Amino acid sequence: TAGEATAVIRADQEVGKISRHVYGHFAEHLGRCIYDGIWVGKDSSIPNTDGVRNDVFDALKKLEVPNLRWPGGCFADDYHWRDGIGPKDQRPKRINMHWGQVTDTNAFGTHEFLDLCEKLGADAYLAGNVGSGTPDEMRDWLEYMTFDGDSELANLRRQNGREEPWKVPFFGVGNENWGCGGNMRPEYYADLYRRYATYCRNFSGDRITLVACGANGHDANWTKVMTERIGRRMPAISLHYYTVYPAWANKTTATGFGEKEWAAVLSECLRMRSAIGNAEESLDEIDPNNRIGLYVDEWGAWYQNEPGTPGYALYQQNSLRDALLAGITLHIFHEHNDRVRVANIAQVVNVLQAMILTDGDKMLLTPSYHLFEMYRVHHDATRLPVELESPEYSHEGHKLPAVSLSASRSKEGVVNVSIVNAHASEAMDLTCTLEGVDGDQVSGRVLTADKLDAHNTFDAPEVVAPTAFNDAKLDAGKLSVRVPAHSVVVLSVE
Ligand code: AHR
Repeated sequence: TAGEATAVIRADQEVGKISRHVYGHFAEHLGRCIYDGIWVGKDSSIPNTDGVRNDVFDALKKLEVPNLRWPGGCFADDYHWRDGIGPKDQRPKRINMHWGQVTDTNAFGTHEFLDLCEKLGADAYLAGNVGSGTPDEMRDWLEYMTFDGDSELANLRRQNGREEPWKVPFFGVGNENWGCGGNMRPEYYADLYRRYATYCRNFSGDRITLVACGANGHDANWTKVMTERIGRRMPAISLHYYTVYPAWANKTTATGFGEKEWAAVLSECLRMRSAIGNAEESLDEIDPNNRIGLYVDEWGAWYQNEPGTPGYALYQQNSLRDALLAGITLHIFHEHNDRVRVANIAQVVNVLQAMILTDGDKMLLTPSYHLFEMYRVHHDATRLPVELESPEYSHEGHKLPAVSLSASRSKEGVVNVSIVNAHASEAMDLTCTLEGVDGDQVSGRVLTADKLDAHNTFDAPEVVAPTAFNDAKLDAGKLSVRVPAHSVVVLSVE
């Protein structure tokens, strides 16, 4: 059987731009994200360029990563940037306090990160240290990276091999300062933000967007206090929301689940909408014209770590369910494109809802990677209004609309429509009226698999991968699509 859904897409109207930056990524010194995942060092037998794995770099290049956040996460508020510059053999070894107390050699530091961003064509999004650092340390870091004149710090950068200053478009003033970033109350952090931000200056024509630490999920009070005490002095504020089921103390597994956990996790990810709504309520009061950006700079599914791996490394598999979770969540960001201008899924390699997993010299692309690759069509595209009627999908008390859909028009005039069918077992016959669309050709790709928990392994890395989709017909402005059960389809009309 198939359910029936309808949609009207109005290509004759526009609702702003979908910033490519909501497709941002996050790389923390945590588990095997940086070391092993991205950085293996020049002397490694794993093919690399200046220490960065070639396979991972090439995969990320294809993803058109718009921005990359580093060095944390919790790690950021215990990170001192001077540890990560200069000759590698002279860099101090430090303990990664938050993540397993493992030794960090500091082989990957400011130069390695900013060079990687430059080669990827990604904007750098750094997180500064408020929890255990000082305002002058933060200020000096910015001068070191971005000043092009004659100063001790700019000259030190040159001595360390980088003549030209880098651009730093995004800079977080701390991370989760309500938790691992200092366990502060919002009133206290708001004052610290004002103080630290005073010293975060634009040097040499750089234009930094400072990002204040925002709420933990649905904590509306945090954003309220921040807006009352800082107001429009902050250009952006963050929000972190992870999908966790049923509870932090008792997280479900990344694979080996049934329909109950499928439905539960996908309905749980919809709570992103209310988390954004809570933050928007306070922001709208002081900033009705959306000058302050809401940056969802950590999001994704957080499961039990894989058996046999250390709990602190947050290593989890990634299944078809995660691709749908990402698709639904990205559609929520599109809906809020007037306020949500940056987002970073956690994390890019080997940690949480990763794009890429590695094992020694092996690498695989996860279903989430494929989703991000298919959704590239929405980067910086014009969002089109959509009216959607979808049947509900419900299983053991967990409910959500079966269909989630978003549409945009590219600079070249192509209308791209992404469709998620969350129903575990029913296809959806979607009839879509296209208002103001000239195109008469439709092509597409689909991401699906036989099993709900289908995933890629190092032995079978192509179990979940996009394939051509031929079940869409376009006739006199009507698009008829049979969207397979548990799938994501991306269509292009031109
Ligand atoms: O992404 C993992 C951790 O989750 C980050 O370090 C922290 O900011 C959040 O709690």
